[in-house]
Amino acid sequence: MKILVLPGDGIGPEVVEQAKKVLEAAAHRFRFPLTFTEAVVGGAAIDAFHTALPDGALHLAQSSDAVLLGAVGGPKWDNPRATVRPEQALLGLRRGLGLFANLRPVRVFPELLDAGPLKPDVLRDVDLVVVRELTGGIYFGKPSEQRQGSDGREAVDTLTYTETEISRLLRTAFDLARQRRKKLTSVDKANILSSSRLWREIAHEVQRDYPDVAYEDMLVDAMAMHLIRRPRDFDVIATENMFGDILTDEASMLAGSMGLLPSASLGSSLNSLGRPRGLYEPIHGSAPDIAGQNAANPLATILSAALMLRYSLGQDDAATVIDNAVSSVLAEGHRTADIAFGGSRAIGCREMGALVVQRVAR
Ligand code: IPM
Ligand code: MG
Repeated sequence: MKILVLPGDGIGPEVVEQAKKVLEAAAHRFRFPLTFTEAVVGGAAIDAFHTALPDGALHLAQSSDAVLLGAVGGPKWDNPRATVRPEQALLGLRRGLGLFANLRPVRVFPELLDAGPLKPDVLRDVDLVVVRELTGGIYFGKPSEQRQGSDGREAVDTLTYTETEISRLLRTAFDLARQRRKKLTSVDKANILSSSRLWREIAHEVQRDYPDVAYEDMLVDAMAMHLIRRPRDFDVIATENMFGDILTDEASMLAGSMGLLPSASLGSSLNSLGRPRGLYEPIHGSAPDIAGQNAANPLATILSAALMLRYSLGQDDAATVIDNAVSSVLAEGHRTADIAFGGSRAIGCREMGALVVQRVAR
């Protein structure tokens, strides 16, 4: 099993290092072979190769069984006028690997009910997954440019969706709902956007093939409200690229910290095991303000590694052991700074990683 590791920028290398150790411990315990290759992407690749995603890195990704990514970006490469940007690495990988479905599970650990700004009563038993469309919509539509108009500068972005893009995403979401609590909420802005009206039309067509799944449409603005008012009511939430980007940052506050949310990006391309060749990454960014200080929370990346074992490598038992290790480390009261509320002492990224490794190894 060949894993491509892309540490990226900021806290990326620190959190990836811990997740890699956890994967090694799991491979040892469950006796499956893992090999790691590493490549440079993001700002680090811009510095070294003047491009965020060198061809070599993309080719390695295309020939790996799964990809583990830290984060890309940082103030050094933030010039709005730059044409080469770290985020192009992510977009290029998503597009280049055909990863159209981004799964972002949000579970609330009982130990962390008090960690975030929301009331424990609202958060108890929350267990949902956002299935975000990842290779279409306004992120990729052309034209996307700033130009000189008759009234000074103007800019345009384009939001396009095809029937194929919409229906394959919704089928992935319905299939997932079937394996869970059989409820799907499709989020759009059909009162305003043509692309959303097509989305809703197709959702209703696809729904006919899933009569066993309870289905509802919801406008994205209402969803933003209901997500924090009654998050327990949601099971699978399917939505387009940008709505999913925004709603998942909001949803991270249900878990208490961005540092806890993993993600899996899947497409139709299969790896050497006949499983989806996925990209796995924490949903948090590169957090340049705390980079290099051993202060990051590695759990989102470690949980992403567990998703990798489950979806791309067929190692469900190992994945469960990792999930349980994370739960028990939290239950024992260990906290990184982002979740150290109410005066509890914070441990570092390495220390948190080591605690999980210990539990996975035994
Ligand atoms: C995410 C991030 C990315 C996105 C950025 C870094 C390009 O916010 O994965 O949610 O917008 O998709
Ligand atoms: Mg985002």
